[in-house]
Amino acid sequence: MMAQAPESNDLQIGGYMISALNLRQPIGTGCMSKVHKAYDNSGTAYAAKHIDCQTLPEDREKELKAYLQMELITHENIVKIHEHIRDEYKDLWLIMDFCDENLDKYFTDFKAECENFETKIDFMYQIADGLAYLHSKKIVHRNLKPSNILINTENCTTGDHLIKLADFTLSKFLDPYGQSSMNTELSPDLYKAPEFYFPAHGGKIPKYKKSVDVYAAGLIFLAMLQPMQHDCLVPQIEGEPPNPREATLTIGQIMYNRHCEYRPPVRLVQESAANLNAANMVRRVIQWATFAEPTYRITAAEMRDYINQIKQNPQINLQQ
Ligand SMILES: Nc1ncnc2c1ncn2[C@@H]1O[C@H](COP(=O)(O)OP(=O)(O)OP(=O)(O)O)[C@@H](O)[C@H]1O
Ligand SMILES: [Mg+2]
Repeated sequence: MMAQAPESNDLQIGGYMISALNLRQPIGTGCMSKVHKAYDNSGTAYAAKHIDCQTLPEDREKELKAYLQMELITHENIVKIHEHIRDEYKDLWLIMDFCDENLDKYFTDFKAECENFETKIDFMYQIADGLAYLHSKKIVHRNLKPSNILINTENCTTGDHLIKLADFTLSKFLDPYGQSSMNTELSPDLYKAPEFYFPAHGGKIPKYKKSVDVYAAGLIFLAMLQPMQHDCLVPQIEGEPPNPREATLTIGQIMYNRHCEYRPPVRLVQESAANLNAANMVRRVIQWATFAEPTYRITAAEMRDYINQIKQNPQINLQQ
């Protein structure tokens, strides 16, 4: 049940206050959660994510274990979860650092700035760095997409913008074999890897590895290189006319349907002459990240190191 405050009242959650106005106007709304801006006694802003546990499928609460463990994770490129609080209705509140934007909105609102190659490559580096750290802690995100990547534009210690990976509702710990099972149905989206579409064999739930996150990061980088098309990465094969039957499918679905022959449309990038080599090297990294066959993909740490090399030396010639 949602903790309802009388219209005119603020809501106190632990040591944090959410104003009636902020309660009415969440900064984010998902299928089972709402995110509100909250303040502590000193006036510092936080984001309070309210997870309505009544609507969670029975075993989902168990699955939130990985989310709660995120409190122990501290990395500049991962949103800090300061604490979790159970309210009187047993609903869960996660108190996080407040961020200004999500990457999805940023793409739309700051198109001109997104055209800046240095900004793009810096975002890519930070995403890969956060992801490599998450994977080193044996956590697979499983729902990486621009709306789950947040940006802080103030109080940054590095560069102008600080990227923070967020929304760990579907995250999982990997088993000793580096796999995570999936008992939650995940809706297809652009950034889901082809293996998400593998049918269960003999009732067995398919297993996913860290490589699903690397694939998603690769497609996010692609969306950054082709910002005008980020919301419709048209699944069109280079050299082939668009296939209307595939128009509503995600790239991952097409890769799966085509028996994994299909590769994402990583076209030659139109960048200024100064950035051309670097942009094409990023394009190479995207190809290594988005192989249909998960085992061929590079790791998040390799991805971070390649992007760092391009950042340091835009004229580099990367070979795998
Ligand atoms: N720490 C934060 N600071 C600022 N805004 C945030 C923060 N966390 C989330 N948001 C905003 O709220 C949106 C939704 O949050 P989040 O992605 O965590 O959950 P969701 O996708 O709504 O939910 P679900 O967990 O149900 O999948 C984000 O896309 C972002 O715009
Ligand atoms: Mg989300």
